[in-house]
Amino acid sequence: MKKDEIFEKLFKEAKRILRNSYAPYSNFHVGASLITGSGKIYSGTNVENASYGLSMCAERIAIFKAVNNGEKDIDTLLIYTETETFTPPCGACRQVMAEFNSEMKIYLVNMYGEYKEFSLTELFPWNFKL
Ligand code: THU
Repeated sequence: MKKDEIFEKLFKEAKRILRNSYAPYSNFHVGASLITGSGKIYSGTNVENASYGLSMCAERIAIFKAVNNGEKDIDTLLIYTETETFTPPCGACRQVMAEFNSEMKIYLVNMYGEYKEFSLTELFPWNFKL
């Protein structure tokens, strides 16, 4: 699949799933989508909790869904928020991403559909591994 095609598919899926974001406490809605080496797409949103620390980020939900479906080869992950600024992944999500592909491609997309592209090696160098 061409790079533009991957971006468009992931963007469309992140926008779709964003509607399911459960964020009544922060009102900050995040949609994440990813594509595996085999071409499968998984996505997730943040899911918050009244006990704030139990909340989960969109990226980790998308990754865990993929892994639970037997797909660990995560090639590219896109993070979408309806904000003017771009939303980079938190440190915890970076560590989880690095578990599966320390060179994962990452797109950050804002409300205008503008994007920034990174490799996880840039965002999370020298990651912890056992
Ligand atoms: N959040 C994500 O889902 N992904 C990020 O990359 C940053 C933060 C969520 C967690 C929480 O529900 C809300 O955004 C505000 O921190």
